[in-house]
Amino acid sequence: MKTVRTIAETRDFLHRARAGGKTVGLVPTMGYFHEGHLSLMRRARRDNDVVVVSIFVNPTQFGPDDDLGSYPRDFERDAKTAEQVGVDLIFNPSVEEMYPEACSSYVEVERLTEGLCGASRTGHFRGVATVVLKLFNIIHADRAYFGRKDYQQLKVIERMVRDLNLTVEIVGMPTVREADGLAMSSRNAYLSPEERRAALVLHRALGFGQKLLKEGLASGSRLREEVERLIRREPLASIDYVAVVDTETLEPLDEIEDQAVLALAVRIGPARLIDTALLERPG
Ligand code: PAJ
Repeated sequence: MKTVRTIAETRDFLHRARAGGKTVGLVPTMGYFHEGHLSLMRRARRDNDVVVVSIFVNPTQFGPDDDLGSYPRDFERDAKTAEQVGVDLIFNPSVEEMYPEACSSYVEVERLTEGLCGASRTGHFRGVATVVLKLFNIIHADRAYFGRKDYQQLKVIERMVRDLNLTVEIVGMPTVREADGLAMSSRNAYLSPEERRAALVLHRALGFGQKLLKEGLASGSRLREEVERLIRREPLASIDYVAVVDTETLEPLDEIEDQAVLALAVRIGPARLIDTALLERPG
């Protein structure tokens, strides 16, 4: 496995791989790997001849009150883990390499980014879309892998690819969870043991939403209220949003016809945790 810090070296490595007719899979990450990240890398390993993982804590997707300064990092451990999974190249650029002075172009994906995390994290998806397009232009992967835990992010990237006629294939992957149901996240590292226990409320809330729909509660707003009520019973949790939305437009649904996404963002102590579930009407 090779680690490179510059765009020029990355292009050089991949130019040679592609000249030999090899396919390239990309897994964009901000590092501090857990099994969620590794599941994307393993799938990329199966699907492609060459696997590239980017590790870059992207400043443009963090707001002024976000956790950019404290975001967990452990490059040595990440590099060892990636090598064990069979990654060929780690691209680990500096902020200056990715954003030289006087950058003035950004990617704005409209509408899809207005609700959910976009409502409370202004500019977040502009930062995500911009850095992901830059990675696509640097790496020219055949396929790129994203987790469905960050459902809105996945939909934003899919829309950008469609709208801007990119040729990369986007592969969405299931959420990997701890044994007790907590979705794996680099931000779980912020939780004290007591907060870690309280964080289980997200998984419980998703299961409760699924149960309510199964029992026939198909009103999006009533289902949302019931789920909010359950989360409020956890004293360490404070709700950022609970939403029942269309799987493609991410618009709130009055009535669930056959499918919906239940999306949650909940603060537990210092961590803002998100999780989503697909709700499906029986029959
Ligand atoms: P990061 O949070 O490091 O996540 C990298 C990828 O791992 C994303 O596609 C995310 O959806 C996926 N992922 C995270 N937790 C997961 C889990 N429990 N199960 C399955 N997949 C999971 O998301 C980002 O970084 C950044 O926004 C990025 C796309 C790299 C742009 O900077």
